[in-house]
Amino acid sequence: MKTTEPNPGLQLDARGRLCHLLTLDGLPRELLIDILDEAEAHDKVLRGQDKKQGTLSGRTIVNLFFEPSTRTRTTFELAAKRLSADVLNLQVSASSTSKGETLFDTLKTLEAMQADMFVVRHEASGAAHFFAEHAAPGVAILNAGDGRHAHPTQGLLDLFTIRRYKGGGVGGPSNDCFKKLTVAIVGDVLHSRVARSDIHGLRILGTKEIRVVAPPTLVPAGIEAMGVKVFHELESGLDGADVVILLRLQKERMMGAFLPSLAEFHRDFGLTRARLAKLKPEAIVMHPGPINRGVEIEGDVAYGPRSLILNQVSHGIAVRMAVMSMILGAPAPAEARSPRSRR
Ligand code: CP
Repeated sequence: MKTTEPNPGLQLDARGRLCHLLTLDGLPRELLIDILDEAEAHDKVLRGQDKKQGTLSGRTIVNLFFEPSTRTRTTFELAAKRLSADVLNLQVSASSTSKGETLFDTLKTLEAMQADMFVVRHEASGAAHFFAEHAAPGVAILNAGDGRHAHPTQGLLDLFTIRRYKGGGVGGPSNDCFKKLTVAIVGDVLHSRVARSDIHGLRILGTKEIRVVAPPTLVPAGIEAMGVKVFHELESGLDGADVVILLRLQKERMMGAFLPSLAEFHRDFGLTRARLAKLKPEAIVMHPGPINRGVEIEGDVAYGPRSLILNQVSHGIAVRMAVMSMILGAPAPAEARSPRSRR
């Protein structure tokens, strides 16, 4: 498949409003904070009795997942349903793509059914940009993960989670918290679109220090240019960290011998209870999921009291509602709004 080079400008219209979400790279700080604040409003509704809003009634959202997913696909679907949109989930393996129909023709066919928005996951970096470049005017594309390139809604929900737990809690978040934080991103950075989106978002919000911690084989060459410090040893990489984001070892993207063995990776880079005990007492642990238990994280740690992994999943619904409603021009109800976050 021919894909296009990422072009972050494609996602903003002439007035600077979000019309697609393809990457966090290059997103204006104010807009990123607006999305997080909008997500706070949706989260407030989701914590109430009636979780449904009528704002996207009559709109059609299509989930197009060419790669497996549990969290992203279901939370996008739930987010759309909470906003009263009609949702189509294309079974890609049972669709005409398996007969050779191209991405372009798949897009045009579904557009003919008056779809308003496509949520796209694909193994090829640039696939979401391809869709955005070829979508009809007014049709929005949301990148739900493209190859190693970007996973912007995961990046947003990670920022939302950090701000919630390090920036003043529900209803009064401070974006200034990022200026005091050291964030360590640990594991398979080489293959991780989550790492890239997290790094872009953390930089936009002015994070004090961003570290990547991994063996040399799992760090992309030149990643320092993204404004991160590289550590090849876990103990020093975690020293003084306020936030630890673990990454899944992406065995499906590993074509060669990146590691001697999973056991060796766990020995050198796995977050165990013993290592957890050496973190700062208030440090938080995150992971985008799915986790490899006993590889990058011990099972007890994954669901232990310091872990926010399941909170991340919950926040994904509010964040995806925010992105969908902002792009389709239907914000959260006024009564759900807190004052804007401190900027
Ligand atoms: N975090 C994430 O993208 O998980 P899924 O692959 O289950 O969607």
